[in-house]
Amino acid sequence: MDVDWKKEEGAPSPGTPVCDLSDLVPGRLSKFDFGTDKVFSLIVYRTDDGIFGYVNRCPHHWIAMNRENGEFIMWDEDEHELMCAHHTAVFRLAHGGECIDGPCKGSNLTSVPLAEINGQLVIDDSVN
Ligand code: FES
Repeated sequence: MDVDWKKEEGAPSPGTPVCDLSDLVPGRLSKFDFGTDKVFSLIVYRTDDGIFGYVNRCPHHWIAMNRENGEFIMWDEDEHELMCAHHTAVFRLAHGGECIDGPCKGSNLTSVPLAEINGQLVIDDSVN
């Protein structure tokens, strides 16, 4: 599934602040919601090597990957792997969001470009 995240309802505009960098804990997934009724959900994952942003929608059925209570399932923390709460697809968060197991194996999460400006994480406006 090839999705233009910018066309999704509630997608944040380039330059929109996401959070302070200091709010991101390495190895922990964070979720930020945008738009009316918080309809656009962004997940951000920080490692020692970088910060990765994705639309919180599984390519299998294009629904949020967290449980109803908001929790995410980190499958293998050493490999930075997230498991979708619905049908157990596994994604590598530090490798382009590639799905390595489950019903949508071979697909990818939809990346959202991020930039660091003066200690703040923002939606990158240098990428079209
Ligand atoms: S919706 Fe994620 S694996 Fe089915």
